[in-house]
Amino acid sequence: MKEYSQYLEKVKGFLADNDAKLIAHYYVDESIQRIAEDTGGIVSDSLEMARFGNKQKESKLIVAGVKFMGETAKILNPDKKIFVLDSNATCSLDESCNHDEFLMFCKKYPDREVVVYANTSAEVKAIADWVVTSSIAVSVIEYLTSQGKKIIWAPDKYLGQYIVDRTGADMLLWDGACIVHEEYKALELKKLISKYDCDVLVHPESPGEVIALADVVGSTTQILKASQSLPNEKFIVATDKGIFHKMRTLVPNKLFIEAPTAGKGATCRSCAHCPWMGMNTLECLEKALREGTNEIFVDETTAKKALQPLERMVAFAESNNFRVRKR
Ligand code: 13P
Ligand code: SF4
Repeated sequence: MKEYSQYLEKVKGFLADNDAKLIAHYYVDESIQRIAEDTGGIVSDSLEMARFGNKQKESKLIVAGVKFMGETAKILNPDKKIFVLDSNATCSLDESCNHDEFLMFCKKYPDREVVVYANTSAEVKAIADWVVTSSIAVSVIEYLTSQGKKIIWAPDKYLGQYIVDRTGADMLLWDGACIVHEEYKALELKKLISKYDCDVLVHPESPGEVIALADVVGSTTQILKASQSLPNEKFIVATDKGIFHKMRTLVPNKLFIEAPTAGKGATCRSCAHCPWMGMNTLECLEKALREGTNEIFVDETTAKKALQPLERMVAFAESNNFRVRKR
């Protein structure tokens, strides 16, 4: 405990001396999550990370997460310096959506609104009309559909199909997937459910047959809120295991069980933990603080174009009250 409090004081000092704030995602190491909160930063889903960074007075933001989160912070805060803990920490969704190929695809359907997931590069965002995160994707598509829009969606095919199923929207889907959520296995999940009197919480980047077994489908924050508000004492959770730290801190009296990734066709490329989120270590944090390494830069023209769909997302989120989606 003494060790942690000493370390915390050191990091606080570094952050204050450098006029910096730490913003972390729920999937990063629990020590970094604790430090972010104990130094006045935040641990949250990707939407709240973007919104929080936008409101800080500090001139530097240190983003513990993956590259697209750092780029989003930079685009929304061009006058701030943004750092990530490891510049190689990417995302399989971001990697699946190459700018030139996606541009060619969009050009084939000029009558369609282009909606991209936040888990994309700045260049891909620059092509889009809207950026969304999992917490507001359904609401934004419902809104666009009510306006009579047809949609191009990229890159997550599972989230895209989930949105189509919920909203009936006319959407063309890009063929991308998250290597963590794609691994959840419906058959094994069914077996696990039969053993417990539990609710099942699923992130919508999971395959459709896993989503079909869910009681609640939502972003990381929405899943956490469900674990607090639902009366059940036991939950099976299909999202990166980094989230268990926050879950068990918020609701220590409940039982949280990992959804299975083993079973027929299993590859265990990630075993329910994002390898890129895992690159956010205390050593990297110290290095970033000490040496100011891994600053994020986004080309000015790209940033200007990407700002518009990102600002739409933030404005939409400010003007709407998002509920946990109970199936
Ligand atoms: P959230 O927006 O739900 O935090 O998701 C981000 C992410 O990368 C999930 O894999
Ligand atoms: Fe990307 Fe999946 Fe990792 Fe999230 S968990 S950053 S979607 S690879």
